[in-house]
Amino acid sequence: MTTPGYKPGLEDVIAGQTALCEVEQTGLRYRGYDIADLAEHATFDEVAHLLLHGALPNRGQLAEFRTRVQAAMTLPEPVRRVMAELPVETNPMDVLRTVVSMLGHHDPDVNDNSHAANLRKAERLLGQMAAAVGGWGQRISGHGSVRIDPQASHGGNLLALILGKSPDPLFSRVLDGTLILYAEHEFNASTFTARVIASTLADMHGAIAGAIAALKGPLHGGANEAAMRMFQEIGSVENVEPWFRRALGEKRKIMGFGHRVYKHGDHRASILREWSIQLTAKTGQKKWIDIADKLQALMLKEKNIHPNTDYPAAHAYFQMGIPVPLYTPIFVASRVSGWCAHVIEQHDDNRLFRPRSEYTGPGLRKVSPIDQR
Ligand SMILES: CC(C)(COP(=O)(O)OP(=O)(O)OC[C@H]1O[C@@H](n2cnc3c(N)ncnc32)[C@H](O)[C@@H]1OP(=O)(O)O)[C@@H](O)C(=O)NCCC(=O)NCCS
Repeated sequence: MTTPGYKPGLEDVIAGQTALCEVEQTGLRYRGYDIADLAEHATFDEVAHLLLHGALPNRGQLAEFRTRVQAAMTLPEPVRRVMAELPVETNPMDVLRTVVSMLGHHDPDVNDNSHAANLRKAERLLGQMAAAVGGWGQRISGHGSVRIDPQASHGGNLLALILGKSPDPLFSRVLDGTLILYAEHEFNASTFTARVIASTLADMHGAIAGAIAALKGPLHGGANEAAMRMFQEIGSVENVEPWFRRALGEKRKIMGFGHRVYKHGDHRASILREWSIQLTAKTGQKKWIDIADKLQALMLKEKNIHPNTDYPAAHAYFQMGIPVPLYTPIFVASRVSGWCAHVIEQHDDNRLFRPRSEYTGPGLRKVSPIDQR
């Protein structure tokens, strides 16, 4: 017996209100701006400002915002020490979760949930997450440190930190663009996690640590890494069909496909596929897109399931030389803007999340004395 109205996975359930983002089958908007418009005409810094402060910045506001965010791109010494001491095999998402927890201990506003303090913490976290992803990139690749370029975009600086060198301008633009596409997506699993935590009036760092834990899973943010490993496992265009038939036979989920909301395609994926094609002019690595396109055609024909953003993100990041374990952390470096904006929205107009469950266990029983069990 199922309780009327119960929706497994809360599918299609409206669990709250937000002014941040509108997800529709026909498109995606951040505070009313179409994602394609933002991807073409804005930088991630401008989009992060839009999400956190409610409006696209003018030149002066943008310069001030970037100065504040970049000032936070140096992690406190104790946090750097812990990052240096963690085993190098640690999952980078677990590293970020630990880093955010530690950053809370060093944040002067940690216990202040006011709008102004939350904004200060959000801007710091934006810079700190880029520094942490870049720092871990440095740790696993062993390259030297890189100076933040005050003129570069957030994506450009993040990529320089990850690669240990000044990146190609096209790579910087594409990476920055992926940050725009990843920045916000209403009540997805990680954002909902952050809002539930914030709704207890817990602090922003706790909410973001929880969100990172939720994003790690392969059904959510972890799909971009899983998609790249899948392309590598397939290896060649000729192997796509045999691999696909085998995967179907084994009832495997094909990573980077499907979406809880978008059932007719993810707009972000189409934008990013185009950018990834542009990258091939520099990298000569069209093979991954050919594999992806062939698999996409088979998935559509056989299962009528479309790719999501993580699918082209995988081959775009690979072409830029980004280590695969950093793909989901890059998602964090972007989505932290959306998460923080949601925490602010939740704290500004809060009601505790406390849904009910349907009980499926045994009926009323008596406790028998321990010797008789
Ligand atoms: C994103 C996702 C979790 C959405 O899940 P959902 O809304 O709960 O949809 P379901 O998992 O119930 O899928 C519905 C049907 O489509 C199938 N399906 C969905 N995504 C699939 C995929 N990637 N590969 C193969 N089959 C898939 C399911 O097997 C199910 O088939 P069934 O009805 O015959 O059992 C799911 O599509 C998925 O696991 N995708 C792969 C991971 C991924 O790319 N995640 C990133 C999301 S942005």
